[in-house]
Amino acid sequence: MIKEGKLIQLVDFFKEGVSSQDKLLIEHSERVAKLCEKFSRHLKLPEEQVQNIKLAGLFHDFGKLSFLKIINNGRKLTSEEYEEAKKHIDYGYNFMQTFSEFKEVAEIFRHHHEKYDGSGYPKGLAGTEIPFEARVLIVCDAFTAMTEGRSYQKKPFTAEEAKQELIRCKRSQFDPVLVDKFVEMEL
Ligand SMILES: [Fe+2]
Ligand SMILES: [Fe+2]
Repeated sequence: MIKEGKLIQLVDFFKEGVSSQDKLLIEHSERVAKLCEKFSRHLKLPEEQVQNIKLAGLFHDFGKLSFLKIINNGRKLTSEEYEEAKKHIDYGYNFMQTFSEFKEVAEIFRHHHEKYDGSGYPKGLAGTEIPFEARVLIVCDAFTAMTEGRSYQKKPFTAEEAKQELIRCKRSQFDPVLVDKFVEMEL
């Protein structure tokens, strides 16, 4: 189990590091964490798994700390910048790996950009090769991103629109069984 003290230290470090530069990232991370917890409970997962998925939600973009300048430059990324920004996965993963209690959490968020059809990164895993907890996180992250709106989206999706988009991208991006479970959940 993860020790409370170390967790608080790490959360504070993350928040301080980011909030001066990017409040939206913190807000997004907290929303993803909350939704991960809710969905994991809806799936009736054991408590330890619920907590790990929730923490993976909180820290999934931790590695963006080192790339905020590139990511938030207000224009579309060049292909080189995009490749550079992809490294936020490794940065976050390598950092978290140094804390033995966070190894499992790091292993989950490492895969939050994988796609169900294998076209994602960093490993290009497909289907059930993607760890189950990561597949849960991926759905929650996507739903949160769609409903909060991003610069490239004209306006945020309603919950209903975002659910339809999850359904549309079942099998290509998301685990179809998890999407079915997600859309039946009261939000
Ligand atoms: Fe990410
Ligand atoms: Fe995210």
